Amino acid sequence: MEQEILLFAEEAARGAGRILLSGFRSADTVVSYKSSTDLVTNMDRASEEFLFNSIREKYPDHTIIAEEGSRSSAAGDFTWYIDPLDGTNNYAHGIAQFSVSIGIYSQSAGAVTAGIVYDPFHDEMFSANRGDGAFMNGVKISVSRNNDIGVSILATGFPYDKASNPNNNLKEFARIVPKIQGIRRMGSAALDLAGVACGRFDGYWEAGVKPWDTAAGSLLVGEGGGKVTKYRGGKYDPVVPEILATNGLIHESMIELLSGNSFV
Ligand code: IPD
Ligand code: CA
Ligand code: CA
Repeated sequence: MEQEILLFAEEAARGAGRILLSGFRSADTVVSYKSSTDLVTNMDRASEEFLFNSIREKYPDHTIIAEEGSRSSAAGDFTWYIDPLDGTNNYAHGIAQFSVSIGIYSQSAGAVTAGIVYDPFHDEMFSANRGDGAFMNGVKISVSRNNDIGVSILATGFPYDKASNPNNNLKEFARIVPKIQGIRRMGSAALDLAGVACGRFDGYWEAGVKPWDTAAGSLLVGEGGGKVTKYRGGKYDPVVPEILATNGLIHESMIELLSGNSFV
């Protein structure tokens, strides 16, 4: 994909990031509930509106699918998957771990071709164009070199409907945690993936995730030299709600630990 689109996505994410920072730890941020456990703020919506309008204006022939409901269907090859605020729970609690996630999927290639994950609080811009490597603030990044799952640090997450959903990650969590050095539940799937791409985490898995959570980050991991699949090793697909992303070296061990619990 042309560099120009990636640069445009980065600029749009910076704009959305400024909107998010303006409402962070502010009394003007209003929380409402989509369900008893799934919350949204007025800033999710403000960020989404800004991103949606900017992208639609610049690329009217691209499809846009954003988490809070904005949709624009077009005949062109590209679909933008947008999470205007990934880590809403953190954001609403004043915890500085949240991001803007933008993944661009090509129908003809059957793959994510560009992706950015922007952490506005730490001003970290993770970006990748398929085939060109992954970068953080313009510096090339790569996955960790640890090949021993026993000393790995992994990230994961749990679905909002964890009380009623049998696929709530508790079985996998219980099986994996004793086998590794440490686990983190950071609260932004997109940043978890960016963390794998730059070697902070050796791996990440989660079920119940959506394309706007994982599309951008999946490309970051692949371009950072890692591996991204479903739980049993099948090809990653953004619309399938399951992802295993690792440095590649611990991937088989993770598939073994996760196998038996794939729901797709
Ligand atoms: C959530 C976060 C969280 C993950 C959930 C996502 P949201 O996204 O990425 O880390 O565990 O599965 O839904 O609601 O903050 O955009
Ligand atoms: Ca999300
Ligand atoms: Ca979100």
